[in-house]
Amino acid sequence: EKGGYDHFMLKEIHEQPDAISDTFRGRLLSNEAMVKLAGVEDNMKKFLAADRIIIVACGTSWHAGLVAEYIFEDLARIPVEVEYASEFRYRNPVITEKDIVIAISQSGETADTLAAIKLAKSKGAFVFGVCNVVGSSIARETDAGAYTHAGPEIGVASTKAFTTQITVLTLIALRLARAKGTISSSEFRHHLIELETIPKKVEEALKSDGYIQTVADIYKDATNFLYLGRGFNFPVALEGALKLKEISYIHAEGYPAAEMKHGPIALIDEQMPVVVIATKKGHYEKVVSNIQEIKSRKGKIIGIVTKGDTNVKELADHVIEVPETLECLSPLLTTIPLQLLSYHIAVMLNRNVDQPRNLAKSVTVE
Ligand code: F6R
Repeated sequence: EKGGYDHFMLKEIHEQPDAISDTFRGRLLSNEAMVKLAGVEDNMKKFLAADRIIIVACGTSWHAGLVAEYIFEDLARIPVEVEYASEFRYRNPVITEKDIVIAISQSGETADTLAAIKLAKSKGAFVFGVCNVVGSSIARETDAGAYTHAGPEIGVASTKAFTTQITVLTLIALRLARAKGTISSSEFRHHLIELETIPKKVEEALKSDGYIQTVADIYKDATNFLYLGRGFNFPVALEGALKLKEISYIHAEGYPAAEMKHGPIALIDEQMPVVVIATKKGHYEKVVSNIQEIKSRKGKIIGIVTKGDTNVKELADHVIEVPETLECLSPLLTTIPLQLLSYHIAVMLNRNVDQPRNLAKSVTVE
């Protein structure tokens, strides 16, 4: 049932190339330069009239929402707010009929997310679901939606659900960008073609597995980790830290790289591994100077870099390469080595990778 892998989590990490293509199959039509998502098409008027999009989710799905915030605002120029479902529902939030709420949930059963949806609906908002489990409570409660086609996710730590959520949300953003005219037809086509190459590039990123094991072995006894990223990759840093915490029980924090100097830099010493997402596009020079700041305080740097990078290699203790892609698609690749790093550290520490202590696959309590 684990398809020859030691754990469901590892199997699911390796399923990502297929899970991502299954998620865009029949929806991403690069030859016709089209994105087809029935749930969006049928409600296009509402989407185009919306003043803003509010994303509600928990945990890893919330991280996917944060990535989507960057993508929606950049491509479709729609203001986005990303909310923890649990905070949103208890806060007396301002919601109107002109709002679109997107609820993201792998299981479709998360109690707080479900309650947030009910609240938003009662205020007249249109609620769109991005779920993995067909027929789940959230899928049924939402007004419309688009499923991720990740297939069953058994490992408690979410992996392929995260990358397929980002895939669906990217498709939605591209479709809306085209409809709104915030992207040119040539840029639109270019994005579709690039998105189509992502599964192959994920496969390539998975090939760093052997090297990642070496890195995992060096740092498995650390008691703290920091994860840093900027822009589209800031949420990936949060997700990398969450993955490490939940399956290895090592304390880890994710931060936007520029926030370092506002506090967390005090933590840096020679005991502290810092995972820095430093891919070529975006604020690369800024990230390189953040790396220099860590280096001068003797932190250990594990850089996630674009294939062929030389700058970071000179400064970092280790670099793990991912293929080049558009900046907005890079989270789909930079996530992969972070999943593998957590996995291998957890295995080396003899943790119960698929069923970590204190965690359940879906959180149906409030
Ligand atoms: C982390 C993880 C959890 C879930 C969260 C939301 O690996 O699995 O943080 O992401 O409980 O679950 P769903 O997406 O099912 O609503």
